[in-house]
Order: sequence, then C-alpha cells, then structure tokens
Amino acid sequence: MNNPMRRMSQALLLSGALMFALNVPARADDSASLYKAKCAVCHAPDGSGNNVMGKQLGAKDLRSDEVQKKSDAELNGIITNGMGGKMPAYKDKLTADQIKGLVTYIREMAKK
Ligand code: HEC
Repeated sequence: MNNPMRRMSQALLLSGALMFALNVPARADDSASLYKAKCAVCHAPDGSGNNVMGKQLGAKDLRSDEVQKKSDAELNGIITNGMGGKMPAYKDKLTADQIKGLVTYIREMAKK
C-alpha cells in the first residue's frame, strides 16, 4: 500500500481526471447535467415522463412529435414561463443561455 510508485500513479491519475473535468467544454454536458438535476424528476432521465412524478403530473414525452413540433421559441417560452400550473417557470432560476441549452438538449433526446 505504501509503494511510492503506486501513490504517484494514483496522484497522476487524479490530477489527470481533474484537468479533464476542467477542460470539458461547458455546453452539451452542462445541459445534460442541468436536465438531470432540474427536470428529470418530472420528465424522467430520458424525457419520456415515464416515472412516478411524470405519470402523476401527466408530463408528455418530450421526445414525441407533439412536443418536438413546437418551435425552439415555444419550448424556450414554456421553460421560461412554465405551463399549465404544473410545469414550473425557470426564468428566475436559470439563465437565458441555460434555457437555450436545455431546448437543444430536448432536441437531442428525441434523436437518440
Ligand atoms: C414539478 C415537475 C416538473 C419539473 C421539475 C419540470 N417540468 Fe416540464 N413539465 C411538467 C409538466 C406536468 C408538464 C406538462 C404541463 C401541461 O401539459 O400542462 C411539463 C411540460 C414541459 C414542456 C412542454 C411539453 C409539452 O407538453 O408540450 C417542456 C418543454 C418542459 N416541460 C421542459 C422542462 C424542462 C427543460 C425542465 C427543467 C428545467 C422541466 N420541464 C422541469 C412538469 C415539470
């Protein structure tokens, strides 16, 4: 356990991981983690709405044609201002850029 070589390689591995984490461009990954942190509770991790909260609230599949045929501006507006009393408004919680990123992420989920 006290092998200095091993300790050194562990330290290298750690600093490598840290550098990697800091260098990842803050776009797609950010939206993905934002979605998981803020939206997946009600919309399920895959956007299907097929989880406890999603079913209870009647959240539609974000990947469905019905949702995807809405324009970016419409989706943006729904996330910004909420919808139907059950979908919360995020205008005070997220920046315009973050919301834009989430719209892109919703489009990406539909392609998977
Ligand atoms: C508290 C649960 C909840 C959370 C959290 C939530 N939503 Fe929703 N969302 C809903 C419900 C319920 C609806 C459907 C509202 C309706 O049909 O009246 C909805 C609708 C939507 C729609 C429109 C879909 C449609 O039916 O046209 C989009 C887009 C959306 N949510 C995105 C998001 C994003 C992005 C987040 C995270 C920033 C998020 N939601 C967080 C519950 C939630």
